[in-house]
Amino acid sequence: MKDVFDKCRSWDRDRPLKEAGIYPFNHPITEVGEGTEVVVEGRRVIMAGSNDYLGLSTDPRVKAGAIRAVERFGATCSGSRLLNGTRSLHEELEHRLAVFLRREAALVVSTGFQTNLALAALLGPHDVVFADRHNHASLVDAVLLGSAAHRRYRHGDMAHLERLLTAADPAAGKLIITDSVFSVEGDLCDLPGVAKLAAEHGARVVLDCAHDLGLLGAHGRGAPEHYGLEAEVDLVTGTFSKSFASLGGLLAGPADIINYLRHVGRSVLFSAAMTPAAVGAALAALDVVEREPERRWRVLDLAEEAHNGLRALGFDTGRSATPVVPVRVGDETLCFRFWAELLAAGVFTNAFTAPAAPGGAALIRASFTATHTDAQLDRVLDAFATVGRRLGIIPPAPPTGYDPVRIARPALPVPA
Ligand SMILES: Cc1ncc(COP(=O)(O)O)c(C=O)c1O
Repeated sequence: MKDVFDKCRSWDRDRPLKEAGIYPFNHPITEVGEGTEVVVEGRRVIMAGSNDYLGLSTDPRVKAGAIRAVERFGATCSGSRLLNGTRSLHEELEHRLAVFLRREAALVVSTGFQTNLALAALLGPHDVVFADRHNHASLVDAVLLGSAAHRRYRHGDMAHLERLLTAADPAAGKLIITDSVFSVEGDLCDLPGVAKLAAEHGARVVLDCAHDLGLLGAHGRGAPEHYGLEAEVDLVTGTFSKSFASLGGLLAGPADIINYLRHVGRSVLFSAAMTPAAVGAALAALDVVEREPERRWRVLDLAEEAHNGLRALGFDTGRSATPVVPVRVGDETLCFRFWAELLAAGVFTNAFTAPAAPGGAALIRASFTATHTDAQLDRVLDAFATVGRRLGIIPPAPPTGYDPVRIARPALPVPA
């Protein structure tokens, strides 16, 4: 008889990487300092692989928000929101988010992943869901958990989406679901295209704004604000694990939809509430997001410099227009070696290979934080240049020209 554990015992894809000293995962960080330089296995390196875009994870105000919340409400809520886990702090955060995002209501959930899983409750047997092929795993899993028919359109391909919408049963409920900033490559979804097709085909739009809330748009309301299409997005999902320097997720939209998900979303019902510390940190981060737009401008400026600096060296940073800076490598082993040598050169990044990136399209994902200094960015670019040349990822001499990146910043910073 087969043992279900056999597959685990024979799985050893990490072993050769560990033996070769190029295993890029699960490395413990022992000191975080102010966030832009961390200590990994005894070495101080520049953190160029965090999603802490606004640099708030170590901000004294955010830490104090978490501490105050723990002192008032304890370490945990010991139960689900529905039963015994709701604290007034959750309601305060939900109210603040609804006001910030100009939506009727908001719901906060223990993680961003679970937030998206709750969407499964919207996907009934008479519905069809249209999903971008590069959607985050949490959206993919939400669709698998739901009972709607599943149509995946080629990444960013509006003509393909249109064909699938046209072929669908006109009587079916339709939902288009997409990341707004794609998490691996940092590119923006074609929201104008999605909104136009949704209007033409009577489809609802759900946008996962995990990477852009707090970051894009004049007031930080994310890609919908950036595009001027907030009314065209029915439901926004997001996470506190990036610009909001905490842990947890949010849904924001019409009050009746939020109320339904609050009572029916399984990942909401059957899981303990966001911890007081996480809510307190998110509330404090929201204060900063609302009051310090200059943090957004700073990280977007840095990101633009990073993209263009890397492109000037001959790297391919794809279609990203955000502080997620993908550096395309292709071959997996080369990518792992690149990661390890960057670390040895004092720069922590992330290696993305299958299943996070398509097979054969491995990449190094660098990301930037508002609190990085210009000198730190220069050190990152120097490390990429030295290691990239040594490994033959870029030519020995920079190319004569490159296409500059236009970062997704509002035309004019708008006062609060
Ligand atoms: C696009 C996207 N959605 C959802 C999530 C999940 O968020 P969390 O880390 O809060 O579970 C992530 C995090 O990686 C993400 O990138």
